[in-house]
Amino acid sequence: MHHFEYRNDSLHCEDVPVAHIARAVGTPLYLYSQATLERHFKAFQEAFAGAAPLVCYSAKANSSLAVLTLFRKWGSGLDIVSGGELFRGLKAGFEPRTIVYSGVGKRVDEIDAAIGHDILMFNIESMEELALINQRAGALNRRARIAIRINPDVDPQTHPYIATGLKKTKFGIDLATALAGYREARRMPNVEIAGIACHLGSQITSLGPFREAVTGLIQIFRELQALEIPVTYLDMGGGVGITYHEESPPRLDAYADTLIDAVDGTGLRLILEPGRVLVGNAGILVTRVLYRKQGKDKIFIVVDAGMNDLMRPALYQAYHAVQPVEQSARENIVADVVGPICESSDFLARDRSMPDACRDELLAVMGAGAYCFAMSSTYCSRPRVAEVMVYGDQFDVIRRPEDMQDLVRGEQLPHWLTKPSDPW
Ligand code: LLP
Repeated sequence: MHHFEYRNDSLHCEDVPVAHIARAVGTPLYLYSQATLERHFKAFQEAFAGAAPLVCYSAKANSSLAVLTLFRKWGSGLDIVSGGELFRGLKAGFEPRTIVYSGVGKRVDEIDAAIGHDILMFNIESMEELALINQRAGALNRRARIAIRINPDVDPQTHPYIATGLKKTKFGIDLATALAGYREARRMPNVEIAGIACHLGSQITSLGPFREAVTGLIQIFRELQALEIPVTYLDMGGGVGITYHEESPPRLDAYADTLIDAVDGTGLRLILEPGRVLVGNAGILVTRVLYRKQGKDKIFIVVDAGMNDLMRPALYQAYHAVQPVEQSARENIVADVVGPICESSDFLARDRSMPDACRDELLAVMGAGAYCFAMSSTYCSRPRVAEVMVYGDQFDVIRRPEDMQDLVRGEQLPHWLTKPSDPW
């Protein structure tokens, strides 16, 4: 149960009618259910209860300060990939010692900030990064804890753009190089080896890839033991999929058992970096129908949210269910649900069988809690939309909608265009 359900034909988020929030805040808007977030987080923690892992919520899925603060209060750590996510995490009150930092392109200023705050560990993605972190830690008079992110060359059987554990991708370090990396790291004065890390990809709907990867990583752990290189953590990344349409992702307890069984007896402490599985089905995008347009061959439902607000369908051909906020008896049609943007990729649903929709009515785009607002942009000078959190019968705006002034904030003309004598 995701706390989005119809009561008297009216879609509710927990105890609040979605239409009521849309009237109060305006559309489009993102709507999150706190009870769903909590249920998902607690279910994840409970699945791993036996192993007492460190769950580091993956900030990139939804980095709203309200969402981050909730996870922090429930005992989560944080997985970050940028200085901006470090900033947000600290603002949301995360203890630096619960923050892990992945990413192939960490800049010097970002590394310095993370070393300065003494985060739990860097997941190293190249030998050059390892050398740089050792050097920066030395310059800052610190020791940086590191894990090497292994690229296990495992096929996660997901969309190619979100598969990250295959050797043809830019992520992680191959097994042989990683072992050399650990040997080198042991000799570096300013780094402390803390763990082994990996991340296979996202929206993974079977256990096989996790099983294969964890087995490989435990072998590395054994090889490190033989070299007398101690490690504390095994960071298995994120990646567990959710149901958008007809996928049947693994149950969390089966996922947990797979990993717990593999580390059993090793003394390793698991770190997990779940994103989508915690937030994906805890949010929806509410949009209003602007026009119902009968094309030559197709019906287009033109709505006020576009690919700039929710780009997953355009980028990954992702499926998001679209449903009326107020249910009524009506004909089913096949239609494209499209936004106002000047591109044919601007669709939220394509060739979708759905209840007919008319001008001014509200539609809910489901499964929009993960990688939706987070990937939104102001393309076509469309201000970013509001985000609202619901809790029981209460709701509050957690991000006001941007306005026109926000669109031009920080912009200025070059000084030669501001002179009274400007010849243009
Ligand atoms: N850890 C690392 C190092 C990651 O790169 C990611 C996601 C996660 C954890 C969290 O993965 P999750 O549990 O959410 O699957 N924008 C795409 C998804 C990109 C995922 C990138 N990395 C989408 O909309 O599907």
